[in-house]
Amino acid sequence: MRNFIAASDVSDINALVKKALSYKANPFADIALGQNKRIGLLFLNPSMRTRLSTQIAAQNLGAEAIVFNVDKEGWALEFEEEAIMSGSTVEHVKDAAPVMGKYFDVLCIRTFPSLKNKQDDYSELYIRQFIKYSGIPVVSLESATLHPLQSLTDILTIQESLASTHGKTPGKPGGYRPKVVLTWAPHVKALPQCVANSFAQWINAWGEADFVITHPEDYELDEKFTKGARITHNQDEALKDADFVYVKNWSTYNDYGKIYCNDPEWMLTREKLGLTNQAKVMHCLPVRRNVELSDEVLDSAHSIVTQEASNRVWAAQAVLSEILASQTVR
Ligand code: CP
Repeated sequence: MRNFIAASDVSDINALVKKALSYKANPFADIALGQNKRIGLLFLNPSMRTRLSTQIAAQNLGAEAIVFNVDKEGWALEFEEEAIMSGSTVEHVKDAAPVMGKYFDVLCIRTFPSLKNKQDDYSELYIRQFIKYSGIPVVSLESATLHPLQSLTDILTIQESLASTHGKTPGKPGGYRPKVVLTWAPHVKALPQCVANSFAQWINAWGEADFVITHPEDYELDEKFTKGARITHNQDEALKDADFVYVKNWSTYNDYGKIYCNDPEWMLTREKLGLTNQAKVMHCLPVRRNVELSDEVLDSAHSIVTQEASNRVWAAQAVLSEILASQTVR
């Protein structure tokens, strides 16, 4: 693996999940792999889980992880080619990224979308420019449109939960095919589509679930990610017999970055969970309690959000391990 930006960077999702779960069982199995390796973690936006889990993952592999909060501590970066830099940006990524490429062996980057210009955001300019100019492998810690480490974790958590709760294994001949529902939820702010896009992309690429997406009208996501899923505006119908319900808000994609309907009826409640097959409830966190998800659901045995967030370490470790191993054999 060279870069980790999308599901297409992974040749075998189940093999990567297996590797992540093996690190969960034995965190220091590959402590020598990252010896004398330095991993840069660049944040252009806030983070708690992604930052800490990736740092821990790097340490478990014996690598040094250096965090740089570019938004707070660095020079304001310019990303447009041929920009006349007479405004607020101080340094071009064309100059900064090659320097980072000399300091680090792997560069991990978090950027968010502007939610103002769909074309710009969906071109993934920031992450593309780092890939183009750093000369080293780049790992997305969430980009303008995708959150791949979150999605890998989500598939790992679904597999782990099926095995531990039901003794069921997806994917094998005669294996169990869980019903997985991604449901839109209300929120007070316009949020990116990244987590929802990414979850859809990865569940479709995984191909071992009956996948349903439900949202109010006007919240259609980019078909590029959702193709393969069944999409309905009827949340109750979607929830029927679900094994997993993934709750997430996103702003509008077509009329980009807006909040249209913010109907509180879309919040997942205990009553709605009665429609499901004793579903486990997932959310990437942070979550707005009693807006996106009710206390009664988050504090119940249905919720696996803490397990999900803790699994971020093992997903990050599996990805960093693949990249470091490919550098070793070069
Ligand atoms: N889920 C997630 O990416 O959390 P953070 O924003 O805290 O990293």
